[in-house]
Amino acid sequence: MTNHAPNGLTAVILAAGQGTRMKSALPKVLHEMCGRPMIDYVVDAAFDAGCRDVVVVVGYGRDELAAHLAKTYGNRVRTAVQEQQRGTGDAVRSALPVLDPAAQHVLILCGDTPLVNAAELSHLAEVCLGNAALALLTAKTPDPTGYGRILRDDTGRITGIREHRDASPEERTINEVNVGIYVARMDFLGEAVAKLQPNNAQGELYLTDIVSQAATVDDVAFVRTESTATLVGVNDRAQLSAAEEVMYARIADNARRAGATIRAGARIDAHVTIESDAVIEHHVVLRGKTHIGSGAKIDVGSVLTDVRVAAGAVVKPYSVCTSSTIGEQAQIGPFSHLRPESQIEAEAHIGNFVETKKTVVRRGAKANHLAYLGDGDIGEGANVGAGTIFCNYDGFKKHKTEIGKGAFIGSDSQIVAPVRIGVGAYVATGTTVTKDVPDDALAISRVKQENKEGYASRLKARLGAGSAKKTESKG
Ligand code: UD1
Ligand code: MG
Repeated sequence: MTNHAPNGLTAVILAAGQGTRMKSALPKVLHEMCGRPMIDYVVDAAFDAGCRDVVVVVGYGRDELAAHLAKTYGNRVRTAVQEQQRGTGDAVRSALPVLDPAAQHVLILCGDTPLVNAAELSHLAEVCLGNAALALLTAKTPDPTGYGRILRDDTGRITGIREHRDASPEERTINEVNVGIYVARMDFLGEAVAKLQPNNAQGELYLTDIVSQAATVDDVAFVRTESTATLVGVNDRAQLSAAEEVMYARIADNARRAGATIRAGARIDAHVTIESDAVIEHHVVLRGKTHIGSGAKIDVGSVLTDVRVAAGAVVKPYSVCTSSTIGEQAQIGPFSHLRPESQIEAEAHIGNFVETKKTVVRRGAKANHLAYLGDGDIGEGANVGAGTIFCNYDGFKKHKTEIGKGAFIGSDSQIVAPVRIGVGAYVATGTTVTKDVPDDALAISRVKQENKEGYASRLKARLGAGSAKKTESKG
């Protein structure tokens, strides 16, 4: 193997097809895998392999795809338009005018092979830069159905590729297939795609036909991948699911190697970051840009989306947390619901059946059972009793509840916002707070209790006699 650095290589990623087999209005390459559109994995692999210039060929749904690429990669990724989807060869033709005229070699990838890995791409580029007109990636697979078959002569030289639909029964038994990844010398590529003809079952211009052209002038170089995963081309949603399983396994294994415990069945999306000694239990789902700090534990069945969990925090089973932050050593759950903009500070506790929304729970404050805490600010060390409701909405606007440091809110209280409860104040159980409570004051609003001595047995006798009469009259 020669040791040319593939730096400066140009990549062309084919992504203009609708992906009819997905049966979807969304362009195929924008379908998500582990929380990211498929195309992103391919673009990243091209950059990781040392490509500086990446051109994506867009067609079906091109505005949507171009907008996604611009948002994700800015001007690092350019697009070329293929007006009509006349095949993979035509897609490469559409890209040629956009390419840097100084480019000597082009790496061609398909937007629907998201499991490609950068090391294999670099290796393929090295093989081609070692002076072949064309190098391609092949794979052996027990089930070659649907893939282009690699044709070889008696000496083992590659002579061409036959698409599944065009293959004879005998050719269909060939189990070495085309992965859809090529490195081509620019001068060869330009001439070869110009000569393509739509002589095939689909009436398309097949990029794969450049292989037989290359074989007439030169040996076609190849790298045979050992990883059957690289091969997975996503054409339908069953293949998308299979590819996603492989990617979830890769993400989990990377996190494990970086020192986190990830139990079987956890699902961690591509942008999630996890520090060492964190524990992610069975069937946890971590989505978006969630970050789990060191030593934090996310217990069974919890679903976290765009949440920052600080070191040592614990999220107990079956909690659902979205766009929120959880401080060091804080405890959430079981069965808690943190809605967006909840900020749970260090050592605070949010317990079962507590819902928070746009609420700050300051250091060490606790709301352990059954509460709705919306649009609030709960002071350090305050205690919010079971059944407390922040009545934040008057049908038109949301209002804020402030609870001072160290305040105590007795169970089953309604706090009608906007309102402020002072530092160290005490709200008696069952109070409906409608006006501010000064620091250190007691707020109580309940009907006075009355005890009627000996009344219970008299009441029971009377009620019992009534029901006996009813039974008699029925009989
Ligand atoms: C292609 C290869 C096949 C290979 C397989 C690997 C051809 C003719 N066949 O088949 O040998 O085994 O990939 O997964 O190349 N595209 C365009 N414009 C078009 C048509 C397609 O940009 O006019 C894009 C698609 O968006 C897709 C990629 O090219 O990302 C591959 O097209 P697809 O239709 O999926 O080809 P396969 O049938 O999978
Ligand atoms: Mg495909």
